[in-house]
Amino acid sequence: MRAWQVVRHGRPSHALKLRDVEPATPGPGQLLVKARASVLNYNEVDGCHGRYLTINPPLPYTLGMECVGEVVAAGPGEEAWIGRQVTSSGFGAVGAHADIVLASAAMTFDIPPGLNDAQAAAFFYPFHLAHLGLFERGRLTAGETVLVHAAAGGVGSAAVQLALAAGASVIATVGNEEKAAFVRALGAHHVVNYRAADFAETALEITGGSGVDVCFDGVGGETMLQSLRCLARGGRHLTIGFASGIEAEEVPMVNGRMLCFGNFDLIGVILAYTPPTIVGKIAGASNMPVPRFNPPTTDIAQSVQNHLLELLAAGKIRPLVGAEVPFTELPQALEAMEARETIGRVVLLR
Ligand SMILES: NC(=O)c1ccc[n+]([C@@H]2O[C@H](COP(=O)([O-])OP(=O)(O)OC[C@H]3O[C@@H](n4cnc5c(N)ncnc54)[C@H](OP(=O)(O)O)[C@@H]3O)[C@@H](O)[C@H]2O)c1
Repeated sequence: MRAWQVVRHGRPSHALKLRDVEPATPGPGQLLVKARASVLNYNEVDGCHGRYLTINPPLPYTLGMECVGEVVAAGPGEEAWIGRQVTSSGFGAVGAHADIVLASAAMTFDIPPGLNDAQAAAFFYPFHLAHLGLFERGRLTAGETVLVHAAAGGVGSAAVQLALAAGASVIATVGNEEKAAFVRALGAHHVVNYRAADFAETALEITGGSGVDVCFDGVGGETMLQSLRCLARGGRHLTIGFASGIEAEEVPMVNGRMLCFGNFDLIGVILAYTPPTIVGKIAGASNMPVPRFNPPTTDIAQSVQNHLLELLAAGKIRPLVGAEVPFTELPQALEAMEARETIGRVVLLR
């Protein structure tokens, strides 16, 4: 089968090679998915460069976090999935840009009714991650104000839609005017081009000086530090990702004084559903570059999925496919993402 493998580190067109490899045999907790689509995730840009230390397998390895297709084989205990049309995550958050994907059963869902493959591919990760951030971790309620960074991106645009559906007031930041128009059309109340204006000053003006209740931050680094200038008392800063430079993941940035005087919460968010029976066993695993790994469990996954399906059926959210590209054009598509040229989700079709 064909698989896009990282064979050396560098920009995607340098790092990636389309190779012929053997499909894996699924073990416990694993499925084999015959993929019809996979989708780009910003983490893959960092994976190509070899600077994403959280997921950094030895070379060569197959890139790709998310796919859509049919389950054609399953590990012991997972046979009920066989024959189902699913949206899924590559096992270990790799392997999805291939014809046949070794997938995680805990990160697999039936394709929501009414969605085609590209829409299904654009649905799972952005909406689950945004839901976990805004509600399970961020405790966002109606009437609160949320600042969403990179709001035209795959995850950001899902966060905007979910926040609006929950009755929150949305201040969105974007990197150019085309993205600003896109996010306005989604219904964001205020849109700031943060390459042209000071978004923290603008957010303070909009909130009459009190600041935002929640900041949904997939950009990180300096954007995170600047965001703390406009976070309200009792506010929640959601650390979603580090699109401005994954190196920021390694740098201690907030000191105790900032936290005490800010009187706000800094909140981490990870999308890595795990069966409750396994969570305790992996929490302190020594092969993870963190002191503690506390992933959300599969029962949380199901309750998030149920709520998302309700919102989808009610027309309150919709997956945003910014581009559909042929499977053979993954490197170019990832380079467009790195250059901040993409909007919504970019889907790779077989
Ligand atoms: N926590 C988790 O479990 C988890 C899982 C998956 C992904 N993520 C993270 O979620 C975030 C969003 O992912 P996505 O796939 O939806 O990506 P995306 O938002 O579609 O693309 C990244 C966006 O980040 C913004 N950006 C700001 N500074 C940038 C810079 N220096 N270089 C490149 N882009 C920059 C750009 O938008 P503007 O031009 O509008 O600024 C760009 O379009 C990423 O940080 C990703 O790593 C987290």
